[in-house]
Amino acid sequence: MDRWRGRVALVTGASVGIGAAVAKELVRCGMKVVGCARNVDKIQELAEECKKAGYSGVLVPIKCDLTKEEEILSMFATIKEQHKGVDVCINNAGLAHPEPLLGGKTSGWRNMLDVNVIGLSICTREAYQLMKERNVDDGHIIHINSMSGHRVIPTADIHFYTATKFAVTALTEGLRQELREAKSHIRATCISPGVVATEFAPRLYSHDPDRAAASYAQFTPLEAVDLANAVTYVLSAPPYVQYERTSHCSKEHGDYLDGGPEEEVASSPRSLPVYRCDGSLEGQSGSGDRSLGGDRGGRSQRAGPLRDEGGGLRQERGQNPELQQRRC
Ligand SMILES: NC(=O)c1ccc[n+]([C@@H]2O[C@H](COP(=O)([O-])OP(=O)(O)OC[C@H]3O[C@@H](n4cnc5c(N)ncnc54)[C@H](OP(=O)(O)O)[C@@H]3O)[C@@H](O)[C@H]2O)c1
Repeated sequence: MDRWRGRVALVTGASVGIGAAVAKELVRCGMKVVGCARNVDKIQELAEECKKAGYSGVLVPIKCDLTKEEEILSMFATIKEQHKGVDVCINNAGLAHPEPLLGGKTSGWRNMLDVNVIGLSICTREAYQLMKERNVDDGHIIHINSMSGHRVIPTADIHFYTATKFAVTALTEGLRQELREAKSHIRATCISPGVVATEFAPRLYSHDPDRAAASYAQFTPLEAVDLANAVTYVLSAPPYVQYERTSHCSKEHGDYLDGGPEEEVASSPRSLPVYRCDGSLEGQSGSGDRSLGGDRGGRSQRAGPLRDEGGGLRQERGQNPELQQRRC
């Protein structure tokens, strides 16, 4: 993470959960992190915590409701004025309302679309424009997607949410293609967790606390910090490597909430397609281990796989036929 020290990252939804863990970890790594959410007081508390811990970076809270374009544009204007721009954009904010397709409320669907898809896309566009203005060619845009962005499970409550996450999958690939077309080396990645113990379930089932608690009780869910590790993992890849997608599940994988049982998903991480920067498939080019095992700035020694198990990513790659690497 050394090359990111002193550089600027935007983390959306930094007030709680995955966003708070990511923001904290990036501050620990020495970045200037702009954290946004509606509950800005919680980000302020996190900033104080980081300061007390003596972290070398800084966390700057900004209040922003991602359903309001004018608030997003005003946030980017502030970022430009105070920090000149952004180098990393982590589109993390997201939510689900239990609104099935056959009887759900339009307002719930619209709110999910506004935050999970439109807000994410506005932030991506604005972050890219600021990167371009400053000739930042090694920036990184990361979407926190979901296992629900890759298949539909038979849980009516999250079918609309699932559609928004499928959109995130398409938006990541579209972004990668547009960046390549623009001859930019800015990277696009989506990280797709299974169930993570955060406020996600309590908010989804705010009318039914028992159901919310049950979501995290049947198995060991991921922790927000696991996702913070996933983010620093993809950020730490050498500039010629791009992870397009990573999926992360609890080993027990009982993620009926925001994931779902799926036979082939057994461990974390499931798949790790890696793209290089000249368009060819790594698997076909014969360059093999180099892009995963090459200069990762010490990351593979520091953290190995995402839960500090040591060496698992390389092992996983050898075992997993889904793994694809492409020069892009
Ligand atoms: N937890 C899981 O099981 C799980 C699994 C797969 C994927 N994910 C994805 O992970 C991401 C983070 O979720 P989480 O688990 O950390 O959930 P969380 O604990 O509920 O946090 C959600 C974050 O999004 C922010 N947010 C929601 N609506 C917003 C709005 N209108 N404007 C600005 N910020 C808004 C919230 O901030 P404020 O309320 O303060 O505005 C909060 O910081 C989401 O994209 C989610 O889909 C979660």
